[in-house]
Amino acid sequence: MNIKENIEAIRADFPILKREMSGLPLVYLDSCATALKPQCVIDEVVRYYTYLGANAQRGDYEMAAQVDYALDAARKTSAEFINAKKTEEIVFTSGTTEGLNLLALMITNQFLKQGDAILTCETEHASSVLPWQQAGLAKDIPVNFIEVDQEGRITPENVEKAFVQYPNTKVVVFAQVSNVLGFNAPIKEIAKIAHDHGAYLVVDGAQAVAHHAIDVQDMDCDFFCFSSHKLCGPSGIGVMYGKFELLDQLRPIFFGGESNARFARSCDSLVLKKTPTKFESGTLPIEGALGMATAMRYLMNIGLNNIHEYEWELKQYFLKRAQEELQDKIKIYNPNAQGGIVTFNVYDKGQLIFPQDMASYLSNKGIAVRSGQHCAKLMGEFLGVPGTVRASIYFYNTIEDIDRLVDAIKDATVEKCLDIFF
Ligand code: ALA
Repeated sequence: MNIKENIEAIRADFPILKREMSGLPLVYLDSCATALKPQCVIDEVVRYYTYLGANAQRGDYEMAAQVDYALDAARKTSAEFINAKKTEEIVFTSGTTEGLNLLALMITNQFLKQGDAILTCETEHASSVLPWQQAGLAKDIPVNFIEVDQEGRITPENVEKAFVQYPNTKVVVFAQVSNVLGFNAPIKEIAKIAHDHGAYLVVDGAQAVAHHAIDVQDMDCDFFCFSSHKLCGPSGIGVMYGKFELLDQLRPIFFGGESNARFARSCDSLVLKKTPTKFESGTLPIEGALGMATAMRYLMNIGLNNIHEYEWELKQYFLKRAQEELQDKIKIYNPNAQGGIVTFNVYDKGQLIFPQDMASYLSNKGIAVRSGQHCAKLMGEFLGVPGTVRASIYFYNTIEDIDRLVDAIKDATVEKCLDIFF
């Protein structure tokens, strides 16, 4: 689909874009925090509650079978969305963070031994660092950090170097797209390096899945986690993908109703269900899974590569206007990042406007952005600033949205930003 030609129709799919913020039409530039939901996703969630209603994988009546059928279809759609080889490689979780935590606990406890190490980098989201640090405590398994290049990119050369420096690395954990700087990590090359050294590659796909086509088979990553809410689906649901042979070896962390085939009084009598059901104890957020699948179909219909291209064009437009009109006012940290994330700080006669003050000022102009450390606290040390403002562009944004952002930045002063609080 040509997004530019269909932008009005696309925007009409998102009811929330009709609302105002601070008395002005909403400019939503915070899609990396969470994406807006099209009407078809909202309708699918409502359809579950108004028409389907039953629990999944438990009932022997027609309505329950219809839920099972819909849930199976959602799993198939999820597999298609990331080009997984098998539907059984899709485990439903509550989102990226839960997937990454489960993997950290299961892999550390079951695949690693004392003396092994984890590799990540300082520009990562906390969810790629903390779960491994905590899971590794008992076995004394450290998390080491690769150096990133001057712009904050992960390079295959630096990953290679890290394997020389930390030869005991058994797991490499990176985001495919950084949530702060928006750079794409060269996952395919990194997978090869990791595998050549006998390490697993775990990928945080949260910021990647909604913005370009994903092919886990081509990337050859071992695990890939993402959340529905970043791709226009409901919150509280996501996917932990794993290569089948690895998932099949892992023992779950949670136990309960749906995950067991049978058990008796003795501990060793437990027989788990097959992969992926053994990982899905407890009732799933069924409406979330159905809504997520609807969101995936909606994005695939628009075309993930069209989305990527459109975001890129809007970002180029922002950069052009910024270069022509905001020279002394703005420092952009990631002009060369491939996607629609623009991370910056605004200055007034050389004085930094504190990022949160800038975000509140933009809110007053009807513009939603994120500010601060963006859950990646080590990134601040790398950038050497207390925080940044992040505008994240998505396919429902327009040139007018970018114009309103640039005009607001142009107009911002320290005084005006502080004035809104008094
Ligand atoms: N991790 C999300 C973000 O980057 C919430 O905003």
